Amino acid sequence: MVRRMIVAANWKMHKTLGEAVAFVRDFLAGPPEDGTVEVVICPPFTALADVGRVLGDGAVALGAQDVFWETEGAYTGAVSPLMLRDAGCRYVIVGHSERRQYFGETDTTVNRKVQAALGQGLTPIICVGEQLAQREAGITMQVIGRQMEAALAGLTPAQIAGLVVAYEPVWAIGTGRTASEADAQEAARFLRQVVARLAGEEAAGRIRIQYGGSVTPANAVGLMSQPDIDGALVGGASLKVESFRSIVAAARQGAAAKRGKGEG
Ligand code: PGA
Repeated sequence: MVRRMIVAANWKMHKTLGEAVAFVRDFLAGPPEDGTVEVVICPPFTALADVGRVLGDGAVALGAQDVFWETEGAYTGAVSPLMLRDAGCRYVIVGHSERRQYFGETDTTVNRKVQAALGQGLTPIICVGEQLAQREAGITMQVIGRQMEAALAGLTPAQIAGLVVAYEPVWAIGTGRTASEADAQEAARFLRQVVARLAGEEAAGRIRIQYGGSVTPANAVGLMSQPDIDGALVGGASLKVESFRSIVAAARQGAAAKRGKGEG
C-alpha cells in the first residue's frame, strides 16, 4: 500500500499576518515539490485567508488548527468548517493536546468536530497521544486506542480511510524530547491495527499516520523511515523556512527508504 507522505506545519499561536505571508512566499520560492510529499501549513485563524491567497490551488495545502462543529450561529469566538473552506482550507487539526489541556477539548468534542469537518469536505488531522504519567504506567496503547475509537465513532470506513492521524506523545511536544523511532513506530502500528478492527484492512492500509513531538531536521528522517509513519506534524521546527524545508526533504528520504525496502 503506497501512502503519500504528509508533513504539516502547526504554527500554533505564532506569526503576524506579515510574518505568515513572508514565510509562505519564501517557502514557495524554494525548490518545487516533486509530489512525493504533501505539505500542509496551519497558520493561526487570523492569517488563514491571506496565506490561502498566496498558496492558491497550488501543491501546498492550507490547514486550520481547530474548528467548531456548527455551521453558523450564536457561538461567539468560534469558527465553522464552512468558514474554513471559504478561507481556502483543505485540512484542519482536531484534538491537539493543547486544545485538550487548555480549552476543554474532550474525546466527544473531537468526534463532533471530525464529523463536522468531513461534512464540509475538510480532511481532519486528528491528534492522539499519552501523557508522561500514562506512558510510565504502561497504559499508552489503552489511552491512544480509546482516543482513536472515540474520534472515529460514527464514521464510515471510506471516511476513516481518508483521515490523517497524528500520534503526538504529550511529553514530547515542545520539550525537545522525542519518542524513540521504535516507540513511535509501535504506537503508529497499534493505531493502524485499531483502524483495521474498526473499519477493515483497506482503511487501515490507506489512513495516514504522522508522528509529532519535537520533530527536527536531525531526527525527522529516522522517524519518517518507520514503516507505519507517513509524515510529521511539526510545531517549533516549522516556524523557520529552512528547518521546515529540511523536514519536508526528510520525508522524501523516508519515503525513498521505504520504497527501497518494498514497504512504501
Ligand atoms: P513541537 O509541536 O514540534 O513543537 O513539539 C508539535 C505539535 O504540537 O504539533
